[in-house]
Amino acid sequence: MSPEVTAFFDEATNTISYVVKDPSGSACAVVDSVLDFDYSSGRTDTRSADAIIAFVKDHDLKVEWLLESHVHADHLSAAPYIQQELGGKIGIGDRITVVQDTFGKVFNEGTEFQRDGSQFDALFKESDSFHIGQLRGDVLHTPGHTPACLTYVIGDAAFVGDTLFMPDFGTARCDFPGGSSETLYNSIQKILALPDETRIFVGHDYKAPGRDDYAWETTVGEQKALNVHVGEGKSAEEFVRMRDERDATLAMPKLIIPSLQVNMRAGRMPPADDQGDVFLKVPVNKL
Ligand SMILES: [Fe+2]
Repeated sequence: MSPEVTAFFDEATNTISYVVKDPSGSACAVVDSVLDFDYSSGRTDTRSADAIIAFVKDHDLKVEWLLESHVHADHLSAAPYIQQELGGKIGIGDRITVVQDTFGKVFNEGTEFQRDGSQFDALFKESDSFHIGQLRGDVLHTPGHTPACLTYVIGDAAFVGDTLFMPDFGTARCDFPGGSSETLYNSIQKILALPDETRIFVGHDYKAPGRDDYAWETTVGEQKALNVHVGEGKSAEEFVRMRDERDATLAMPKLIIPSLQVNMRAGRMPPADDQGDVFLKVPVNKL
């Protein structure tokens, strides 16, 4: 079955969110939504999420799932906001517990921060399946960028999060805590083992040298032939050397500090203080 996929591009964070609809009914899922955040002022904005909510309402859709490919380090998730407006269950990979443990320590969250994934409605592991109406979704555990990264294979479409990007841009970085270029290489081989005609929808696009427009849809066949990092059967050794050298040159994403603190809580802010005010921390010399 072939889901109807609608993309929402957030230029501030180069993120693509998707509404994935069962072609035989009104059920849908929202993949990797964005809560806008202005770091300078500490203000959130729901503009991006409201565009998705308006789309869902305009088309009389029913949100069954709010799927997160991983704990994003470059944008805040709007999953709880969309859930409050439209319902649906928030799902992520069960290795979220590893990510919560790592960043619970980095942000010195103390014992009130649960590291068991209980902030989410569903924790998926390799080979789990779920349904969006009549559409079946299958879960591939595809770590490397982070330990908990998942690829959701829904009908003939794979939502790969931050594993593969468009063929002319390559692959995701592997230098965050818990990341591994060797692990990512092996995860990508799982994605490339899907049928060649499988549609691939990527989690980010940054254009690429020589390309003027943003793009987010490709296929397994195109990735195998053309991906500049892993295409044409590049070896694990070649990939690991290239990825590690390149990662050593990359700056941290602008929103990594707020994103991790919020996304490891399923997109919720830390608890308010006794005045009802909410604060995020900045760990010094930790990341
Ligand atoms: Fe990411």
